[in-house]
Amino acid sequence: MLIKTRKSGDVRSSEITSESVYEDRRRFLKMGGQFACVGMGLVVAGCGDAADTRSTRKPAGSGYDDVPQLSAPDWLKEKVASYQSSRFTTDETLTPYASVAGYNNFYEFGYSKDDPAKYAKNMKTDPWSLVVEGEIEKPGKYTLEDILKPHDVEERIYRLRCVEAWSMVIPWVGVSLANMFKRFQPNSRARFVQFETLYDPEQMPGQRSRLSAIKYPYVEGLRIDEAMNPLAFMAIGLYGKTLPPQNGAPLRLVVPWKYGFKSIKSIVKIRFTETMPQTTWVKSGPSEYGFYANVNPEVDHPRWSQKQERRLPNSIWEPNQIETQKFNGYGEEVAHLYKGMDLRKFY
Ligand code: MTE
Repeated sequence: MLIKTRKSGDVRSSEITSESVYEDRRRFLKMGGQFACVGMGLVVAGCGDAADTRSTRKPAGSGYDDVPQLSAPDWLKEKVASYQSSRFTTDETLTPYASVAGYNNFYEFGYSKDDPAKYAKNMKTDPWSLVVEGEIEKPGKYTLEDILKPHDVEERIYRLRCVEAWSMVIPWVGVSLANMFKRFQPNSRARFVQFETLYDPEQMPGQRSRLSAIKYPYVEGLRIDEAMNPLAFMAIGLYGKTLPPQNGAPLRLVVPWKYGFKSIKSIVKIRFTETMPQTTWVKSGPSEYGFYANVNPEVDHPRWSQKQERRLPNSIWEPNQIETQKFNGYGEEVAHLYKGMDLRKFY
């Protein structure tokens, strides 16, 4: 990656996390051309509802009305539409849908921020199944419907802070990860959990590149107590509709106190383990990316500062540069998980 000094408000043409990834993007771009462009409706930002009220419909102008319902099975559309508001909310302005679904990192579909929206649009997400294995009493291959059936869905409005120093505020729809995990009955040896993204080079052009800097399938992990924390969430929708493929349809992790790369997309496997699992970014750049990856303005990335972030959407005229908060502002809920740990060492 070219090392250059950025002005704080610059909108980067490529928000790339490592030199090798940057190079790979250039190779990837040469593969482009055979895919059609996806059209995104521009919507206006609004605020979340009051806590704990039924809200299947938002007031006009809140940014929800114009969000397209993409192709998805009827049962899933209905499930998502049945969401209730929750106590996990914020009065910060929502990031417009156009940015949430148009400015993405999903390297399986390319390295430019607009590649995932273009190239993931025809990704097949139905039928979908999830393999759950390892240190649990109820291993198996579950259909998405079986996984979701027992759970009520809720909306959670969370900040998402990318390690690249941009951020969004996103109204997710989904289920508590802890509630989902309790059904699998982790045993006493289950100290960690690993998540794995779909591996399907035919659908995912980024996985076809033999020169890719990232080894696929994309994998991520959590300590079991992190996974069982009430904030951890499995998303199946956003803005009241099913997840767009570029945001990780049909099932995507959301851990808002950690850098965005922990929030793995399009999950097909969950493995409960006794030892700390491999993760894609620790494999790719262990000196730059750690297993914990908690948002921390006191620990800079080796190549850039983590003290501030660019809240999207922004422009040269409106840089929207804001201070980054420790644990992305969720310290009250999660700081105890790291008591006594040196967060410079366990970054
Ligand atoms: N999951 C997979 N499978 N592949 C990816 O490239 N990118 C991560 C994360 N999950 C990624 C992924 C990164 S770096 C970020 S910042 C978030 O997804 C971005 O999520 P968004 O595109 O929904 O904003």
